[in-house]
Amino acid sequence: MKSVAFLLLVFLDGVSSDVCTYQDILDYLNLTTGNTAFKLTRPVLDHKHATVVKLNIILYAILAVVEKTQTFVPFVWISVKWNNERISWNPDKFCGISQISVPKNLLWKPDLLIYEMIQKDDSPQLQSMTISYDGTVSMDENLRVFSTCHMDVHKFPFDTQECNISISSANHCIDEMRIIPISNSTRATQFSHQLIRTQGEWEFLHLTVSSQNFSYEERKWEMLTYAFTMKRRPLLHVINLLLPVLFFLTLDLASFFIADYRGEKLGFKVTVLLAISVLLLILNEILPSMSNKTPLIATYCIVIFALMLVSLLETILVTYLMDKDSQEKLSHGRHFGDKNDQINTKNCEEENKGETCCRICTMSDGEKQHELLPVVEEVNNGIHSPESNVLLSILEELKKLQTALFLHLNCGKKQGNSSCWARKINKVFFIFYLITVLLFLSFIFMEWNS
Ligand SMILES: *[C@@H]1O[C@H](CO)[C@@H](O)[C@H](O)[C@H]1NC(C)=O
Ligand SMILES: *[C@@H]1O[C@H](CO)[C@@H](O)[C@H](O)[C@H]1NC(C)=O
Repeated sequence: MKSVAFLLLVFLDGVSSDVCTYQDILDYLNLTTGNTAFKLTRPVLDHKHATVVKLNIILYAILAVVEKTQTFVPFVWISVKWNNERISWNPDKFCGISQISVPKNLLWKPDLLIYEMIQKDDSPQLQSMTISYDGTVSMDENLRVFSTCHMDVHKFPFDTQECNISISSANHCIDEMRIIPISNSTRATQFSHQLIRTQGEWEFLHLTVSSQNFSYEERKWEMLTYAFTMKRRPLLHVINLLLPVLFFLTLDLASFFIADYRGEKLGFKVTVLLAISVLLLILNEILPSMSNKTPLIATYCIVIFALMLVSLLETILVTYLMDKDSQEKLSHGRHFGDKNDQINTKNCEEENKGETCCRICTMSDGEKQHELLPVVEEVNNGIHSPESNVLLSILEELKKLQTALFLHLNCGKKQGNSSCWARKINKVFFIFYLITVLLFLSFIFMEWNS
C-alpha cells in the first residue's frame, strides 16, 4: 500500500514537473517588481563589458512634411535588442520555454535619444518586451517622430528631400554602449517598401543607414543615422500653381491680338495681372521664408509677373500714343490742315502697306463727300423726275449712313505720327516679349529637370 502511494507520488511529481508556468521562470530569475537589481544599472556582470544595442527602424508612414516649419513627421517602427547578462535559464528545465514576455518597467532599458525629435510623442506605447533564455531582451516601439529636417526647396515642387533620424545613447559613451544596425540599407529599404502604408504627397525612395562616432567632452559616442529619401509628387502644385500662371501668361500673349486701343485691352491685361497676384498668395503659404537659394517657383512666378507688368506698361504707352494722336487730330487737324496730315499719312502708308484707313480718316469732310457720293445739288441740277426724287431720298439716307460709319470706324483710329510709332512699338515689343517668354520658360524647366 505504501509503495503504491509512493509510486503515485512519483508519478504525480513527474506530471507536475511537465507543467511549467512563466512565473516559474520569473521566480527562478528573482525577477519581481521589487527587485531593483534588474532596473537600476546597466545589466552587465563586469562593468567593462559594453552593452551592444542592436537597432532597426522601419518606416510605416509619412504623416507630414511641412516645408514652412521644416518638420518631418514619419511613423516608424523601432525595434531594439540588447543582452541582459543577469538573465539566463535552461529551457530544458522549464518545459522548453525559451522566451517570455514581461512589462517594460521590469527591466533596464537603453536610454536612446533621437536628436532631431522636437516634440514628444504622447500616443500610447506598447507595454511589454520579450526576454529570451540567453538574456536577449527585445523591445518594439511604434513612434510618431516629430523631427526637424533641413529642407531645400530650391526645386519645389519637383524636389527630393532627405530627412535624418539620428539615434544615440543619452548617457553611455562608446565604451559602455555600442549601437549597431540590425539590417543594412538595402534590407531596411526593402522592409520599409513592404510595410509602408501611407505616403501622401510623397513617394518614399530609400532608407540609408550609417554609423558614426562623435566626441563630446573628451568622450566618444556612437550614433546611428537613418536617412529617409523621398520624392514629392508634384501633380497638385502643377495643377494649382504652375499651369494657371502659364495659362494667364498665354492669355496675356494672346491679348496682343486684341486690336482695340481704347482701354479694353488695358482692362484685360490688368485683370490677368491681378489673377496672377492672387496665385502668388498660395505660394506664400507653402514656402518657408528662410531659404539659402531662391526657390525656382518663386523666380518663375515673379519673372512672369514682371513680364506681364512690362507688357501692361507697354500697352499703356501705346494707348497713350494713340490717344495723343487723336487729340492732335481733333485740335489741330482742321486748322493746320490737311497738308501736315497728308505728310504723316504718307509715312504711315509706306510703313503699313495695305492699310487704307489712313487716307480716309485724314480727309476733310468736304473731300470725303466729293470722293464717295455726289452732292445733293449736283443731282438737283440734273433732270427732275419722280424717279430722281426717290433717288435723292436714297442718296440722303446713304450720306447719313456714311457719316455714321466714318464716325464709328475711323475716328478712333486716326493714323498720325504717334500712332505709327505705337504700331511699330507694339510689333517689336510683341516679338521681344514672345522670345523672352520662350527663353525664360525653357530655362526654368531645364533647371527644374536638372
Ligand atoms: C534568487 O534569489 C535567491 C535567494 O535570494 C538566490 O539563492 C538565487 O541564487 C537567486 N537566483 C538567481 C538566478 O540569481
Ligand atoms: C567607432 O568606434 C568604434 C570603437 O572605437 C569602432 O569599432 C567603430 O568602427 C567606429 N565607427 C566609425 C564609424 O568610425
